[in-house]
Amino acid sequence: MVTGAAGGIGKALAQRFHAAGATVVVADLDGDGATATAAGLLDARPASALGIHADVGTEAGNVTLIEMAETRFGPIDLFFANAGVGIGTDLDTSEAVWDTAFNVNTHAHRWAAKHLVPGWVARGEGYFCSTASAAGLLSQIGSAPYSMTKHAAVSFAEWLSITYGDRGIKVSCLCPQGVNTNMLNAGDALGMPSNNVVRASGRVLEPAEVAEVVLAAIAAEQFLILPHPEVLTFLQRKTGDYDRWLSGMRRLQARMQGN
Ligand SMILES: NC(=O)c1ccc[n+]([C@@H]2O[C@H](COP(=O)([O-])OP(=O)(O)OC[C@H]3O[C@@H](n4cnc5c(N)ncnc54)[C@H](O)[C@@H]3O)[C@@H](O)[C@H]2O)c1
Repeated sequence: MVTGAAGGIGKALAQRFHAAGATVVVADLDGDGATATAAGLLDARPASALGIHADVGTEAGNVTLIEMAETRFGPIDLFFANAGVGIGTDLDTSEAVWDTAFNVNTHAHRWAAKHLVPGWVARGEGYFCSTASAAGLLSQIGSAPYSMTKHAAVSFAEWLSITYGDRGIKVSCLCPQGVNTNMLNAGDALGMPSNNVVRASGRVLEPAEVAEVVLAAIAAEQFLILPHPEVLTFLQRKTGDYDRWLSGMRRLQARMQGN
């Protein structure tokens, strides 16, 4: 199962898992996009994919999605909570935007896990992957909601691994920097300052490159998936000297604002 798979990273993940032999359920708020992704997979191999319109920003949406997938194909082996929203900026961000950011970027992972993990524990296996972001390890200059919700997503994945890792549940958390998708390109169109930071921080990868790294990391059962390896260096600098890292981030922010 891959959520947020109408396009971008999710679509590339669905295509890569399918090419590796998996039967794939493609879910997205954009139901037509999900159906189109699934149709492409079905062309390659009949009865090996299903596209579902789903809103993972509610618990009921996750429950319905899981039930539809399991009715069609049986128990889910691997669930990739990838759907996300890059919305919100500063302290003036509306409550509605905060709620959507938390529901889709964070609570969706918890709701899916709540309805998957008991069955996985009973079976003795299951794999939960989530897409957070490098912003969940470092921070997102220009967006408090994105920083907070992605940190929370990393934290939930850590907790899941700690709590269930000895009971057959595998967990991985994908934390990319810039990837060439609608989310990044829409941010450019809106002139989001956070986008300048993303583009200045490293190479913008293609979704297919990210999917390749993910497949290898899952085969190795590696928790943290970093398609931009330099993120590990940034993280080590942060934890090695927090105050120095914060003043560096303030300087980067000033540069991005042309100060
Ligand atoms: N593109 C980047 O630079 C980048 C970097 C780091 C992390 N990410 C994360 O990668 C993930 C995928 O994003 P992307 O870059 O491929 O962008 P994208 O916009 O192409 O994909 C996000 C998908 O999530 C879907 N979605 C949004 N709300 C939903 C909901 N309530 N229910 C179901 N689906 C919903 C959207 O319809 C969209 O298809 C996100 O979690 C994003 O935060 C992206």
